[in-house]
Amino acid sequence: MSFHPVEQATARLNRSELAVPGSQPQMFEKAAESDADVIFLDLEDAVAPDEKEQARKNVIKGLNEVDWGNKSMSVRINGLDTHYMYRDVVDVVEQAGERLDLIMIPKVGTAADVYAVDMMVTQIEDAKGYEKRIGFEHIIETALGMQNVTEISAASKRNESLHFGVADYAASTRARTTIIGGVNKDYSVLTDPDADGNRATHWGDMWHYALARMVVAARANGLRPIDGPFGDFKDPDGYKAAAYRAAVLGCEGKWAIHPSQIALANEVMSPSEEEITKAGRILEAMAEAEAAGKGAVSLDGRLIDYASIRQAEVLVEKAKQIAGG
Ligand code: GLV
Ligand code: MG
Repeated sequence: MSFHPVEQATARLNRSELAVPGSQPQMFEKAAESDADVIFLDLEDAVAPDEKEQARKNVIKGLNEVDWGNKSMSVRINGLDTHYMYRDVVDVVEQAGERLDLIMIPKVGTAADVYAVDMMVTQIEDAKGYEKRIGFEHIIETALGMQNVTEISAASKRNESLHFGVADYAASTRARTTIIGGVNKDYSVLTDPDADGNRATHWGDMWHYALARMVVAARANGLRPIDGPFGDFKDPDGYKAAAYRAAVLGCEGKWAIHPSQIALANEVMSPSEEEITKAGRILEAMAEAEAAGKGAVSLDGRLIDYASIRQAEVLVEKAKQIAGG
């Protein structure tokens, strides 16, 4: 290990993160009864300019009055380039800060953006005498945010997670895409002709680099990487394929922009029984190997070593978190 310790952010189950527009308070009760691990009440892009003020009031009332159980509650504030943002922070934290676990900062571009919100939240928490510290979730969804993702990740002790905001990211980078979080057939590889002259087209994942880059920045700073929205909620298979790709790269959760996507995210982001059993067997085999003075052994014909222990431990820890959550 490096001499540089990586401090882990507050542990929180974050397999599914449900987006609920702040302008639709009639949806709050149903969201509270759902199986989402985290809910973010949105003041940003799901809310029209004329509705911003009312949405803020709805969110404050909802946070204080709805029984959200043990869910982690977040509010997506407006961007730092809007005049809504300061009042989002002041009103929501002052009036509902005790039930608020997280603030989601959209379109974060630089470490100074994080610093500015941190300063405001700290003043309000201190003035109100809150004991709990509100955490930050950052949406990496602009070219600037992706360029500065490393500094953003390390910019505040409040940081908990990074989210890949694929819709705005596509707009910012001018990527060619139509469906939020979907892929584009033009991002493909054409194979060389085989003996009969046939060529195959293999679709690629145009989001691979961005997601992988965000995962590295998050993990290097002890944060959770979370995959963002998948717009076609009538396509559960497409959603699951995107969620599996993100999970394979290291993401531990995905947004649900529709209640039907919650179960899909929870399923994909939870280790399977088979994986948990296998992890348990790896830990047992390594404990036996260690007792016999060996650093690596074979299990089911495959080499396992100390790196396998660390992977297995992560999995067992996640299973425990889910069982207790
Ligand atoms: C989320 O905010 C996105 O832009 O994808
Ligand atoms: Mg966005």
